[in-house]
Amino acid sequence: MKSAVLTTLAVAALGVMAAPVIDDVTVLNFALTLEHLENAFYSGALAKYDEKAFTDAGLPSFSRARFVEVGQHEQAHVDFLTKALGDKATKPCTYSFPYTDPKSFAALSQTLEGVGVTAYTGAAQYITSKKYLTVAASVLATEARHASWVAGAVNKVNPWSGALDVPLSPNDVFSLAAPFIKSCPSSNPPLPFKAFPTLEFPTGSKPGQKVILKFDKGSSTGDLFVAFFTGLSQEFAPITKDNSVTIPQDLVGTVYAVVSSNATVATDDNTVAGPAILTFNFDTKGMVIQ
Ligand SMILES: *[C@@H]1O[C@H](CO)[C@@H](O)[C@H](O)[C@H]1NC(C)=O
Repeated sequence: MKSAVLTTLAVAALGVMAAPVIDDVTVLNFALTLEHLENAFYSGALAKYDEKAFTDAGLPSFSRARFVEVGQHEQAHVDFLTKALGDKATKPCTYSFPYTDPKSFAALSQTLEGVGVTAYTGAAQYITSKKYLTVAASVLATEARHASWVAGAVNKVNPWSGALDVPLSPNDVFSLAAPFIKSCPSSNPPLPFKAFPTLEFPTGSKPGQKVILKFDKGSSTGDLFVAFFTGLSQEFAPITKDNSVTIPQDLVGTVYAVVSSNATVATDDNTVAGPAILTFNFDTKGMVIQ
């Protein structure tokens, strides 16, 4: 009897330590969490700023009407996922977004659409249902069009980073979304994801520069590295004693960076802080704009 209880406890302990089960309901609720966030982001800003506010801010006159369409797509994604999940569907939270005018709203829109793309790209591997994989691919394609439109037509910068996009882990995505989420209904199903401590690069950091990072080392004592996620690759650079790192010269476009205790492969298990989003805008010759 006693040993049976111990065995049960041991199994339970192992269950706690094992990697979380990421089933299709969890992935869809994770996607819905992000779609609720985007939906609230657009409906809030569009209620605040009329067309004149957009043109006064120097944005193209057509841009507000297109942002309305983008917002309608996010609402449609929310409705679609909510219907698919039925009574398991997570509900909207309350949010806080740091834009202060249409220009900073458009900049944040580019960031959020980009994170949406990395989220769907990174979560694809967890979807087992082929039907839901098709749905996710269809949403991903639309989010990527949003990201390219706002970057190219509104913000007048490069509409893509390169031939491949970054697949971020759900924990990395959760870390990027968490600062915008203020509180959620207690009835929402908990997601088995966590936010890593924040990592900050100095504003305006560029490839080739040696910069000082801000992050909390936590309990890590060994050597640390920055892993720069670009396309499907990771590039590594050592962090020196004074917390500085030299950004690899060859990076362009949007790069996601984490602090890792591993010099060659960054995973959730060895991530110390991050991700930080680095944007190295580049011209039509592929040269980073200084
Ligand atoms: C880094 O990760 C790789 C792959 O998981 C592993 O083989 C290697 O031992 C790790 N190195 C360190 C220093 O942890």
